[in-house]
Amino acid sequence: HRPLKIAPSILSADFARLGNEVRAVDDGGADWIHVDVMDGHFVPNITIGPLIVQAIRPVTFKPLDVHLMIAPVDPYIEAFAKAGADIISIHAEAGPHLDRSLQAIKTHGKKAGVVLNPATPVAAIQHVLDRIDLILLMSVNPGFGGQAFIPETITKVEQVKALIGDRHIDIEIDGGVDAETVVALAKAGANVFVAGSAIYKGNDPATYAPRIKAIRDAANA
Ligand code: DX5
Ligand code: ZN
Repeated sequence: HRPLKIAPSILSADFARLGNEVRAVDDGGADWIHVDVMDGHFVPNITIGPLIVQAIRPVTFKPLDVHLMIAPVDPYIEAFAKAGADIISIHAEAGPHLDRSLQAIKTHGKKAGVVLNPATPVAAIQHVLDRIDLILLMSVNPGFGGQAFIPETITKVEQVKALIGDRHIDIEIDGGVDAETVVALAKAGANVFVAGSAIYKGNDPATYAPRIKAIRDAANA
Protein backbone atom coordinates (compact mmCIF):
# COMPACT_ATOMS: atom_id res chain seq x y z
CA HIS A 1 0.00 0.00 0.00
CA ARG A 2 1.33 3.44 -0.95
CA PRO A 3 1.72 5.85 2.00
CA LEU A 4 -0.59 8.86 2.07
CA LYS A 5 1.20 12.19 1.73
CA ILE A 6 0.03 15.79 1.79
CA ALA A 7 2.15 18.26 -0.17
CA PRO A 8 1.23 21.92 0.37
CA SER A 9 2.04 24.02 -2.72
CA ILE A 10 3.90 27.19 -1.83
CA LEU A 11 2.44 28.79 -4.97
CA SER A 12 -0.32 30.15 -2.72
CA ALA A 13 2.03 31.14 0.13
CA ASP A 14 2.82 34.74 1.06
CA PHE A 15 6.10 35.16 -0.80
CA ALA A 16 7.10 38.17 1.30
CA ARG A 17 7.56 35.76 4.21
CA LEU A 18 8.21 32.54 2.36
CA GLY A 19 10.53 30.96 4.94
CA ASN A 20 7.87 31.26 7.64
CA GLU A 21 5.21 29.93 5.28
CA VAL A 22 7.31 26.81 4.59
CA ARG A 23 8.06 26.33 8.30
CA ALA A 24 4.37 26.73 9.17
CA VAL A 25 3.18 23.90 6.88
CA ASP A 26 6.12 21.77 8.01
CA ASP A 27 5.05 22.25 11.65
CA GLY A 28 1.43 21.82 10.52
CA GLY A 29 2.01 18.26 9.31
CA ALA A 30 3.04 18.54 5.65
CA ASP A 31 4.80 15.45 4.31
CA TRP A 32 6.39 17.13 1.29
CA ILE A 33 6.75 20.77 0.21
CA HIS A 34 5.48 21.22 -3.37
CA VAL A 35 7.32 23.82 -5.44
CA ASP A 36 5.73 25.05 -8.69
CA VAL A 37 8.23 26.23 -11.27
CA MET A 38 6.73 28.06 -14.28
CA ASP A 39 8.50 29.67 -17.20
CA GLY A 40 5.92 31.81 -19.04
CA HIS A 41 6.42 29.57 -22.07
CA PHE A 42 5.28 26.03 -21.29
CA VAL A 43 2.59 27.57 -19.05
CA PRO A 44 1.18 31.10 -19.08
CA ASN A 45 2.71 32.22 -15.78
CA ILE A 46 6.16 32.83 -14.30
CA THR A 47 6.99 31.82 -10.75
CA ILE A 48 10.22 30.71 -9.20
CA GLY A 49 13.62 29.28 -10.06
CA PRO A 50 16.50 27.40 -8.44
CA LEU A 51 17.38 30.44 -6.27
CA ILE A 52 14.15 30.09 -4.31
CA VAL A 53 14.56 26.33 -3.96
CA GLN A 54 18.01 26.98 -2.55
CA ALA A 55 16.63 29.61 -0.20
CA ILE A 56 13.97 27.36 1.32
CA ARG A 57 16.20 24.26 1.46
CA PRO A 58 17.64 25.05 4.93
CA VAL A 59 14.20 25.90 6.31
CA THR A 60 12.82 22.34 6.32
CA PHE A 61 13.94 18.70 6.40
CA LYS A 62 10.83 17.64 4.47
CA PRO A 63 11.36 16.52 0.86
CA LEU A 64 11.14 19.33 -1.69
CA ASP A 65 8.78 18.13 -4.42
CA VAL A 66 9.74 20.24 -7.41
CA HIS A 67 7.20 20.42 -10.25
CA LEU A 68 8.84 21.79 -13.37
CA MET A 69 6.42 23.44 -15.80
CA ILE A 70 9.17 24.55 -18.13
CA ALA A 71 10.34 23.81 -21.67
CA PRO A 72 13.03 22.97 -22.45
CA VAL A 73 13.66 21.21 -19.16
CA ASP A 74 17.05 19.52 -19.66
CA PRO A 75 19.20 22.66 -19.26
CA TYR A 76 17.77 23.27 -15.76
CA ILE A 77 17.68 19.81 -14.16
CA GLU A 78 21.17 20.12 -12.69
CA ALA A 79 20.43 23.55 -11.21
CA PHE A 80 17.31 22.31 -9.41
CA ALA A 81 19.12 19.18 -8.23
CA LYS A 82 21.97 21.25 -6.81
CA ALA A 83 19.55 23.74 -5.26
CA GLY A 84 18.19 20.95 -3.06
CA ALA A 85 15.24 19.35 -4.82
CA ASP A 86 14.52 15.78 -3.62
CA ILE A 87 11.94 14.91 -6.23
CA ILE A 88 11.99 16.44 -9.71
CA SER A 89 8.91 16.02 -11.89
CA ILE A 90 8.77 16.92 -15.54
CA HIS A 91 5.88 17.13 -17.99
CA ALA A 92 5.56 14.46 -20.67
CA GLU A 93 4.36 17.25 -22.99
CA ALA A 94 7.37 19.49 -22.38
CA GLY A 95 9.78 17.90 -24.83
CA PRO A 96 10.48 15.08 -27.26
CA HIS A 97 13.01 13.26 -25.04
CA LEU A 98 11.20 12.25 -21.87
CA ASP A 99 13.36 9.18 -21.35
CA ARG A 100 16.58 11.19 -21.61
CA SER A 101 15.30 13.85 -19.19
CA LEU A 102 14.33 11.18 -16.64
CA GLN A 103 17.77 9.62 -16.92
CA ALA A 104 19.29 13.05 -16.26
CA ILE A 105 17.28 13.40 -13.05
CA LYS A 106 18.45 9.95 -11.92
CA THR A 107 22.05 10.84 -12.75
CA HIS A 108 21.81 13.52 -10.07
CA GLY A 109 20.52 11.00 -7.56
CA LYS A 110 17.04 12.49 -7.32
CA LYS A 111 13.62 10.87 -7.43
CA ALA A 112 12.00 11.32 -10.83
CA GLY A 113 8.38 12.04 -11.65
CA VAL A 114 6.39 12.39 -14.85
CA VAL A 115 3.51 14.86 -15.01
CA LEU A 116 0.53 14.53 -17.35
CA ASN A 117 -1.74 17.43 -18.27
CA PRO A 118 -5.49 16.79 -18.07
CA ALA A 119 -5.83 15.91 -21.78
CA THR A 120 -2.72 13.71 -22.01
CA PRO A 121 -3.48 9.97 -22.12
CA VAL A 122 -1.88 7.81 -19.42
CA ALA A 123 -0.21 5.73 -22.14
CA ALA A 124 2.42 8.51 -22.31
CA ILE A 125 4.16 6.92 -19.29
CA GLN A 126 3.89 3.31 -20.43
CA HIS A 127 7.49 2.94 -21.56
CA VAL A 128 9.19 4.78 -18.71
CA LEU A 129 7.52 3.00 -15.79
CA ASP A 130 10.75 1.38 -14.63
CA ARG A 131 12.53 4.75 -14.52
CA ILE A 132 10.15 6.74 -12.37
CA ASP A 133 9.26 7.08 -8.70
CA LEU A 134 6.13 9.13 -9.18
CA ILE A 135 3.33 9.96 -11.59
CA LEU A 136 1.72 13.35 -11.16
CA LEU A 137 -1.69 13.81 -12.73
CA MET A 138 -2.75 17.40 -13.26
CA SER A 139 -6.37 17.90 -12.22
CA VAL A 140 -6.35 21.47 -13.54
CA ASN A 141 -4.59 23.02 -16.50
CA PRO A 142 -1.23 24.06 -15.07
CA GLY A 143 -0.37 27.70 -14.58
CA PHE A 144 -2.37 28.99 -11.65
CA GLY A 145 -3.58 28.07 -8.19
CA GLY A 146 -7.21 28.16 -7.16
CA GLN A 147 -8.77 26.53 -10.25
CA ALA A 148 -11.66 24.08 -10.25
CA PHE A 149 -10.91 20.34 -10.06
CA ILE A 150 -11.40 18.45 -13.35
CA PRO A 151 -13.40 15.30 -12.46
CA GLU A 152 -12.10 13.16 -15.37
CA THR A 153 -8.93 12.85 -13.28
CA ILE A 154 -10.57 10.08 -11.23
CA THR A 155 -10.73 7.79 -14.29
CA LYS A 156 -7.10 8.57 -15.04
CA VAL A 157 -6.08 7.55 -11.52
CA GLU A 158 -7.75 4.18 -12.04
CA GLN A 159 -5.96 3.75 -15.37
CA VAL A 160 -2.57 4.70 -13.91
CA LYS A 161 -3.08 2.32 -11.01
CA ALA A 162 -3.76 -0.55 -13.41
CA LEU A 163 -0.77 0.42 -15.55
CA ILE A 164 1.79 0.51 -12.72
CA GLY A 165 0.76 -2.84 -11.23
CA ASP A 166 2.88 -3.68 -8.19
CA ARG A 167 5.65 -1.16 -8.90
CA HIS A 168 6.43 1.26 -6.06
CA ILE A 169 5.33 4.40 -7.86
CA ASP A 170 3.49 7.21 -6.08
CA ILE A 171 0.34 8.59 -7.69
CA GLU A 172 0.18 12.32 -7.01
CA ILE A 173 -2.65 14.73 -7.83
CA ASP A 174 -2.27 18.46 -8.37
CA GLY A 175 -5.00 21.05 -8.79
CA GLY A 176 -8.24 21.78 -7.00
CA VAL A 177 -7.52 19.26 -4.26
CA ASP A 178 -9.40 19.85 -0.99
CA ALA A 179 -11.11 17.81 1.73
CA GLU A 180 -13.98 17.08 -0.69
CA THR A 181 -12.26 16.25 -3.99
CA VAL A 182 -9.63 14.14 -2.20
CA VAL A 183 -12.16 11.48 -1.19
CA ALA A 184 -12.79 9.97 -4.63
CA LEU A 185 -9.14 10.42 -5.62
CA ALA A 186 -7.92 8.42 -2.63
CA LYS A 187 -10.54 5.73 -3.28
CA ALA A 188 -9.35 5.46 -6.88
CA GLY A 189 -5.75 4.87 -5.68
CA ALA A 190 -3.97 8.22 -5.54
CA ASN A 191 -1.72 8.66 -2.49
CA VAL A 192 0.03 12.05 -2.73
CA PHE A 193 -2.08 15.19 -2.66
CA VAL A 194 -0.87 18.65 -3.58
CA ALA A 195 -2.96 21.47 -2.16
CA GLY A 196 -2.24 25.16 -2.64
CA SER A 197 -5.24 27.34 -1.97
CA ALA A 198 -6.97 24.73 0.21
CA ILE A 199 -4.12 25.13 2.72
CA TYR A 200 -2.67 28.61 2.17
CA LYS A 201 -5.81 30.62 1.39
CA GLY A 202 -5.88 33.66 3.69
CA ASN A 203 -2.22 33.05 4.63
CA ASP A 204 -2.97 32.56 8.31
CA PRO A 205 -0.47 30.03 9.69
CA ALA A 206 -2.89 29.08 12.47
CA THR A 207 -5.20 27.53 9.84
CA TYR A 208 -2.61 25.31 8.14
CA ALA A 209 -2.49 22.39 10.57
CA PRO A 210 -6.29 21.91 10.73
CA ARG A 211 -6.56 22.19 6.94
CA ILE A 212 -3.82 19.63 6.36
CA LYS A 213 -5.49 17.35 8.87
CA ALA A 214 -8.90 17.78 7.19
CA ILE A 215 -7.46 16.69 3.83
CA ARG A 216 -5.59 13.77 5.43
CA ASP A 217 -8.66 12.60 7.36
CA ALA A 218 -10.88 12.83 4.26
CA ALA A 219 -8.35 10.83 2.22
CA ASN A 220 -8.16 8.19 4.97
CA ALA A 221 -11.94 7.90 5.35
C1 DX5 B 1 -0.90 24.53 -10.83
C2 DX5 B 1 0.14 24.07 -9.85
C3 DX5 B 1 -0.44 23.61 -8.57
C4 DX5 B 1 -1.18 24.66 -7.81
C5 DX5 B 1 -2.35 24.01 -7.17
O1 DX5 B 1 -0.31 24.79 -12.06
O2 DX5 B 1 0.89 23.00 -10.40
O3 DX5 B 1 0.53 22.98 -7.75
O4 DX5 B 1 -0.41 25.30 -6.81
O5 DX5 B 1 -3.13 24.99 -6.57
P1 DX5 B 1 -4.57 24.66 -6.01
O6 DX5 B 1 -4.40 23.61 -4.95
O7 DX5 B 1 -5.00 25.98 -5.44
O8 DX5 B 1 -5.43 24.18 -7.15
ZN1 ZN C 1 2.22 21.75 -9.00
